[in-house]
Amino acid sequence: MSHSAFTHDLFDDDAASDYTPRAARARKAPPRRKLTEYSEGEQVLGSVTMTYQPARYEEVWLKSSLRDFFTQQYITDVLAQVKGGKEASVYRCAAAPHMGVEWLAAKVYRPRMFRNLRNDAMYREGRAILTSAGSAAKKTDHRLMRAIGKKTEFGMQASHTSWLMYEFVTLQTLFAAGANVPQPIAAGENAILMGYRGDGSRAAPTLSEITLDDDEAPRLFDEVLRNIALLLGIGYIHGDLSAYNILYWEGEVTLIDFPQVTAAAENPNAAFILRRDITRVCDYFAHYGVRRDPAQLTAELWREYVGEEDFAQLP
Ligand SMILES: Nc1ncnc2c1ncn2[C@@H]1O[C@H](COP(=O)(O)OP(=O)(O)OP(=O)(O)O)[C@@H](O)[C@H]1O
Ligand SMILES: [Mg+2]
Repeated sequence: MSHSAFTHDLFDDDAASDYTPRAARARKAPPRRKLTEYSEGEQVLGSVTMTYQPARYEEVWLKSSLRDFFTQQYITDVLAQVKGGKEASVYRCAAAPHMGVEWLAAKVYRPRMFRNLRNDAMYREGRAILTSAGSAAKKTDHRLMRAIGKKTEFGMQASHTSWLMYEFVTLQTLFAAGANVPQPIAAGENAILMGYRGDGSRAAPTLSEITLDDDEAPRLFDEVLRNIALLLGIGYIHGDLSAYNILYWEGEVTLIDFPQVTAAAENPNAAFILRRDITRVCDYFAHYGVRRDPAQLTAELWREYVGEEDFAQLP
């Protein structure tokens, strides 16, 4: 999606409000807290010059989302937008000198109020709510559970935080287990900061954007499978795995985009979701002569990591 389409889309509600009669506009005014947050972002970062020049509406959101990464001295500049999308935009940032790398990637989630959470009910089943500390909220926290069910402001914020923290915590666990994922650095209210794949002129392409050499395909396929197994080993399934969420850089693959991870043992759709992930990966690699049976691979992995019985229920 082009940059301008992203900014327009991102703030379409704002744009629409320009045409709303004054009385209606007053009723639709966002809660005060948010305005304060934004203006604090302006104050703290007003003096920061970003090499990347965001559009006016994108700027406030971007700055408030990345503010903590600047003040905690992880990054010193935003250099470019890598990709703007429906759910999130990713930016290449200059890492602070002590970070030991030149760049970091900031994934900034689309503002909660303008975002349709990816049809997420299927993934959330059997998944605890994660707090901003990355720990599971208690199911006995009735106030929280009720707020989420009723989609109150507080409940929506909690769902948003949980969605983002699943991505961050999964990256942490996978990275520690030796998976091919970006190194997670920090999580904020609307953004995560992680290792960047690519260089100063371009970010790593996704597998969907490139043509592999036939001779490297089998090794890369095995790598992807190794990562699927590592994730299953910690109890989760990616849930949106395909050539669109695997980066390729210098002969290596990197799996990305984890907010929808699915609990393998607790989610009744888990076997279906796992088979879908594996089928998409097999379909991609089949173009390069890697012929593997996705149903059989799914069954093997399921038996090894989750258990035989549940798999029999796969439709
Ligand atoms: N660590 C990274 N290094 C380099 N590029 C990255 C990194 N993480 C993500 N990207 C780029 O940003 C894009 C979007 O990231 P991601 O897949 O995590 O978000 P998304 O939720 O799919 O966003 P959308 O659905 O809006 O496209 C990726 O396709 C990739 O091109
Ligand atoms: Mg993606």
